[in-house]
This record gives sequence, C-alpha cells and structure tokens, in this order.
Amino acid sequence: MNIKVAICVSEAVPFAKTGGLADVAGALPAALKKTGITPVVLMPGYGHIFERFKGIEKVNERISLSMNREYTEEFGLYRIFHRGVYFYFVKNDKFFARDNLYGTSLGDYSDNDIRFGFFARAVFKVLEELDYIPHIIHLHDYHFALSALLLKDIKSRKEQSAFRRTKTVFTIHNIAYQGIYERDILSTLGIDNNYFNIDGLEFYGKVNYMKAGIVYSDKITTVSPTYAREILTPGYGYGLDSVLKAREDDLSGIINGIDYQVWNPERDCQIAANYSMDDFSGKRKCKRHLLSKLFDGNIDFQSPVIGMVSRLSYQKGLDLIAETIDLIMENDLYLIILGTGDEQYQKILMHQEKKHGKRFSLTLGYSDKMSHEIYAGADIFIMPSRYEPCGLGQLISLKYGTVPLTRNTGGLSDTIVNIDTEEDIEKGGTGFLFKEYDSLEFYRKVKKALELFSNKKLWEKIILNGMSQDFSWEYSANEYKRLYENMIG
Ligand code: ADP
Ligand code: GLC
Repeated sequence: MNIKVAICVSEAVPFAKTGGLADVAGALPAALKKTGITPVVLMPGYGHIFERFKGIEKVNERISLSMNREYTEEFGLYRIFHRGVYFYFVKNDKFFARDNLYGTSLGDYSDNDIRFGFFARAVFKVLEELDYIPHIIHLHDYHFALSALLLKDIKSRKEQSAFRRTKTVFTIHNIAYQGIYERDILSTLGIDNNYFNIDGLEFYGKVNYMKAGIVYSDKITTVSPTYAREILTPGYGYGLDSVLKAREDDLSGIINGIDYQVWNPERDCQIAANYSMDDFSGKRKCKRHLLSKLFDGNIDFQSPVIGMVSRLSYQKGLDLIAETIDLIMENDLYLIILGTGDEQYQKILMHQEKKHGKRFSLTLGYSDKMSHEIYAGADIFIMPSRYEPCGLGQLISLKYGTVPLTRNTGGLSDTIVNIDTEEDIEKGGTGFLFKEYDSLEFYRKVKKALELFSNKKLWEKIILNGMSQDFSWEYSANEYKRLYENMIG
C-alpha cells in the first residue's frame, strides 16, 4: 500500500533552521520515502527562502482561505523538489517575511497565535488544492497542533469530507513551547467556543495549541523513549503531564536519527580536513584550524578543547556553565561556545568571555559552518541540558569523534553509554553523563573527562566507541512507518 503522509512543520533544513526540529524535518521525509512511503512537506514560506533557493516553482499565486465568516487571508503556494520529496511553501508575507522565524532575543513575535493559527488552517486548503488527500497528517510541535483540532472539526461537520479517513500524528519535539494565547484568537480562527473547555484546548483560562495537539490527534509521539516517560511527570510535563497521562496508550517515543549526508567527517566540505575511524589525523588538523582561527598568541594544541553549539535557552543548562566556568577555566583547556538566544544568557557569556578571553571563545550568532568546525575540532562536546527531548548535538559529536558530556536525561540517556570507570570504556562507553541538575555534579564529570583525556590510548578507544555508533534515520523512519501502518489498519 502506498501510504501518503503530509508532514507539517515550521522549519526544515536546508530552507529554514533554528534548531534540531529543522534537521529532523530535512531528513525524515527522504528517509520515509526510502521505506516506500510518499511524503510531502508543508511549511511556511519565509521571506529568505525565495531569495536564497533557486528552482522554486509556483503552484498557485493566490489562494483564498476563509478564516471566519468575515475574515479571509490570501496566500501563494510554491514548491521545490528536494531529495525526492516535494516541499510546499505557504507564502503570506505579512506573516512570514520577517527577520526571524519565531521572534527576537527579546521574545516571541506578538502575533504568533494568528501566524501559526492561519497555517494550521491553511494545511487543509493546500491539500485540497493539490488534490492530495493523505492517509496521515503528521504535525510537528505546537505550531501545527491546532490542525488536529481543525481536522476533528471538519470531520464532525461534514460526514463526506475528503479527509474523512485521514488520521493525525502529533510529534512533540519540545513540550516547553506550547503556544499559549488569549481566548479571543479562537473567533479570529473561526474555532467554535465548544472547544474551549478543560477537556479541549482550554488551559488556565487561555488557549493552548500544544494541548489541542495532544487531545485531538490520533497518535502522539515524542523524540525519544525516555522523554516519552519523562513528560508524564510534573517535573518535565510543563503543566501538560496529566493531559498526556490520559493519552498514555497513544503515546510513544521514537528516537531521532541524524543525516549522515550532512554530518559525516569523511565527506564534510565545511571542515579543515576529512577523517574517518581508520585514520583520524584529519581531526587533529581540524582542531589546529579551529584554535588558530579563534585564539591569538601561543596556542597549546595539546590542551583539550571543550565545545558547545546550542540555542541559548533555559533548557540548555547555561546556568550550570555560568556557575562553574571560573572553576573550568582553572584547568588547562580551551572552551569554545557558539550560540544564539536569550538576551540574559548572551550577557552572562559575554561577561565571562571578557574574564577568560585568552582561552574562552564565544561566538554569538548562528553559523552552520562554524558549528561543523566545532563538532570536528573539539575534543569534548558539552550539553548540560535541564531536559532534552532527543538532542542532535550529541549524535553529531559522536560521529565526529568528539566525546559528549551531557546530563542524563531524555534522548541523551538513550543515545550515550556512560563512562564512570576505565572498565566502562571497554564495555563500549561513548560519553559522560551526570544525573542531577547540579553544578558540582557537572563539574565532577568535566574533571573525569579531562583526566581520561590525558590517557591517549583510553581516549582513542572512547572516540572509536562513539564513531562506530549508528544513528542513521533508517531505523527511526521504519518505526514511523510501522506506526502509520497500524493506524491505517
Ligand atoms: P535543539 O533543537 O533543542 O536546539 P538539538 O541538539 O536537537 O537541540 O539540535 C540543535 C541543532 O541546531 C544542531 O544541528 C546544532 O548544530 C544546531 N545549532 C544550534 N545552535 C546553533 C548555532 N548557533 N549555529 C549553528 N547551528 C546551531
Ligand atoms: C527539539 C528538542 C531537541 C530535539 C529536537 C528535534 O528542539 O529540544 O532535543 O533533538 O527538537 O527533535
């Protein structure tokens, strides 16, 4: 059977990216295609996409979407064929031709409720326009969660709707971002007030898009088995744990893969030298190149390099770094951080860079090239996250022979084999995990990693353990396929 899936997502590599969601949406469709599924991707047509990508074709310049009885929005529909899959862009410049995807370092755009509400509605119009009625609409994160409610609504109003057999999967990449807005957005989006109740999308007097996704989707997934368990608890559920608990039977965790076409030190053309498990002399060149680029004067190329590539947000454990950085910098090492995000963390890190600038390099901003250089040139990759639904940084660094040091949570627990003792290395240990969200625990693990780094033989074994892991998309794409098949019956 040819399963048709419409993947609705707010960012996808190479068209738009702020984090791992884009990596997933860029790679999963092609991986699904290989399993025999026919996917299409629907995403916002951000302004920069039309400037940067050649070969985008027009499907329909002007489509009218009735939002409520008095209010109609217009949009254009464009597409590009990428890695065997059509990516469709919904172009409404008022909503999507902006400098950023979701907001600035000071906060979210104030009209995200209507931007993503509009898009959640546009999904059905686009699919009708394309005459592509999918078996499954696969929604990602709160941006599209409302489509689950809207589909239920369409089905309840029109028995013979073209979508009567279409089912929804809602994937939670991060439960902390829920899309919580004032109630009046419902009338703007033409959503009946009946849905505004405790069993619907009401959440403490407001509207919660993510809750709509959880309540109204046929199946819910998240991006690792451990996170699937964690979000059922108050500590991780961000207020939605009991809502999820009620849907526990329909919830599962499918670990993300990474795209080894993009992330592969053997072929990566953004790094100073290529290398593989058989010969990682190229990694030393990458380290030299990275250090020479970022530091002046006498550089000690033997010192360990700790790298971090991250959104600078509450999630990512930046306070543990702020609390321990003075201690960390007492050791003979280099620290390199690339990140962008919340103003408060940018300030803290800028202050620390002034203090420790000789051996601490901070790059504020988003740079794909530099991220590749850090993954390849660092020895240790840190990710002390408070919570981590899956995490891709650790998967990339494993592939690049850069040993991850992370908190033992979510997808980090599921993908890293912890090392405490030398024996753990023999048993296949790939990285360093610390349990409590506590600066001393974190620092103890940093010390442990530094101690093992000084033993070249053991360190090489850890690198090899990591590089030989396989987190390609094949496994996960087949898990999704199984899920879709079970749903279709
Ligand atoms: P999250 O999606 O929560 O941000 P992940 O680990 O899943 O975390 O994915 C992060 C992705 O974004 C990785 O591909 C990482 O390399 C990339 N990334 C994060 N910050 C930056 C940055 N400042 N510049 C370039 N790439 C970045
Ligand atoms: C989210 C999560 C991250 C995950 C990514 C892709 O941004 O924070 O852990 O890897 O989505 O699923």
